[in-house]
Amino acid sequence: MRVLGIAGSPRRGGNTDILLAEVMKGVASRGAEVKTIILSRLKIAPCQHCDGCLETGRCKVKDDMQMVYDELVRADRIVLASPVHFMGVTAQTKAMIDRCQALWVRKYKLKLPPLGDRQVERKGLFISVSGTKRANLFEPALATVKSLFKVLDIAYAGELLFPGVDGKGAIAKNPEALRQAFLAGQKLVEESKVE
Ligand SMILES: Cc1cc2nc3c(=O)[nH]c(=O)nc-3n(C[C@H](O)[C@H](O)[C@H](O)COP(=O)(O)O)c2cc1C
Repeated sequence: MRVLGIAGSPRRGGNTDILLAEVMKGVASRGAEVKTIILSRLKIAPCQHCDGCLETGRCKVKDDMQMVYDELVRADRIVLASPVHFMGVTAQTKAMIDRCQALWVRKYKLKLPPLGDRQVERKGLFISVSGTKRANLFEPALATVKSLFKVLDIAYAGELLFPGVDGKGAIAKNPEALRQAFLAGQKLVEESKVE
């Protein structure tokens, strides 16, 4: 089993990075193969709605998103980590998600499997933190991520959400959060069925 971690925060060593690393430790403890990509280190242009993908389901923009498509295809599990930025996912995460419009075209226009022919029951976990504890503040990010997973035929395996975590690395002082992240990683690869 191959598990793809996607780090969506621009803050290296920040809270979602720490949580993602714990999830991936849990994943690795169960013998799965892990790969983490850091979106802020990649060049991923926003979707320009050029319709270049309409005939083929392939994005014509040749940047690092081409590697991300390949990683998504290879993955059996996806762990997407993004803090809340202005009530949604980060710009880096949203750019990656919007570029998946080419995969939307594959699925809904071309009637092809969005992530290729490999028969696999993919599952996805979402990790997020926010600086404040305002009510419903994860809802926009959750809607976006659930939409992505639905389009890509990735069953939603749940989320780890920690409000009120703002300082860089502050989550490291919350051993219960780290424990939950580790266990979520183990659970993600242990479950053979979608709940
Ligand atoms: C550009 C920007 C926008 C933010 N917007 C929000 C917000 O809308 N609501 C909130 O509660 N926190 C917001 N925050 C705070 C972050 O969610 C918080 O600092 C979080 O811990 C960052 O996670 P990271 O360390 O993984 O990057 C924002 C931070 C930045 C830099």
